[in-house]
Amino acid sequence: MTAVHRVTVTDLQSMKERGQKITMLTSYDYSTARIADDAGIPILLVGDSLGMVVLGYESTLPVTVDDMIRHGAAVVRGAPRAHVVIDMPFGSYQGGWQDAMRNAIRIMQETGAGSVKLEGGQRSAEIVRHLVAAGIPVMGHIGLTPQSVNTFGGWRMQGKTPRDGVRLMADAQSLEEAGAYAIVLETVPAALGAKITQQLRVPTIGIGAGPYCDGQVQVVHDLLGLFQDFKPKHARRFIDAAGLFRDAFTEYREGVEAGTFPSEAESHLLDRKMRDRIESTSIPDNAALETVIDDTPGGAPLEDGYASQRTTTNPRNANRRDDGREGATRG
Ligand code: KIV
Repeated sequence: MTAVHRVTVTDLQSMKERGQKITMLTSYDYSTARIADDAGIPILLVGDSLGMVVLGYESTLPVTVDDMIRHGAAVVRGAPRAHVVIDMPFGSYQGGWQDAMRNAIRIMQETGAGSVKLEGGQRSAEIVRHLVAAGIPVMGHIGLTPQSVNTFGGWRMQGKTPRDGVRLMADAQSLEEAGAYAIVLETVPAALGAKITQQLRVPTIGIGAGPYCDGQVQVVHDLLGLFQDFKPKHARRFIDAAGLFRDAFTEYREGVEAGTFPSEAESHLLDRKMRDRIESTSIPDNAALETVIDDTPGGAPLEDGYASQRTTTNPRNANRRDDGREGATRG
């Protein structure tokens, strides 16, 4: 069996050098990560945007290191191929490089991710330098950095004036010099995205930064049309998953209400002897229940795996056979 090659930061550098565009997508859970990995997405970002699209906060500020670790580890388990990069959340690095080092080490050790991402240009360069020196690859993030939304006075495009544009170019330069392996440019004019991309050796990944960046990143809930609160200008809904979900949920509710769900094929059936016995028995009290259980013949009298459920208090823990995997459980 050949081992799966996981995308590395040097692979990403080679992609820029070959002129091959880089696709990055956010991911927050095991199942979505598996699908994105299957689809050949080379970088999965466990973004602190999970605070808004998964946890329902109004901004990314309340997200904690523990949140990032829980979701990051799930994404790493789901994606054997992609490079997984995990956001350092608000408060986990602003206190200085020692704080940043402690939190970045936790994130790397407890998730198995390939790198971390943090926001800020010149102000974060010293932190980036220390993390990189310790062997932790860092992706930078400048422009409309969501953790600074209160300083910006809202979700506003950055780099609109010559002064701001030059400041962002200097930010990008200082991150590259500090050792960042790639830089996210968020919500800046396309011409500025192109200029910074041209000037840097490392790849730029744009979100609302025009088509000339080395790569693009999208928030998975925006791309699928799952996040309904607002649609950022730079987001494209590739499908209307919210509509598909709503239709499926409605059909499910209607099936339950009409008694057409579950069908016989979706039910666990007993053999005739056992069924007759249950049908002829009235509901016992607890003492009698013990007798019924003890009295039930051992071995495998049942045809469909219910034997384990007899002594299980929570039926969701009983073995399932619906996916053909013996004893598979998800509940
Ligand atoms: O948290 C996030 O999803 C991000 C992307 C928008 C780049 O940082």
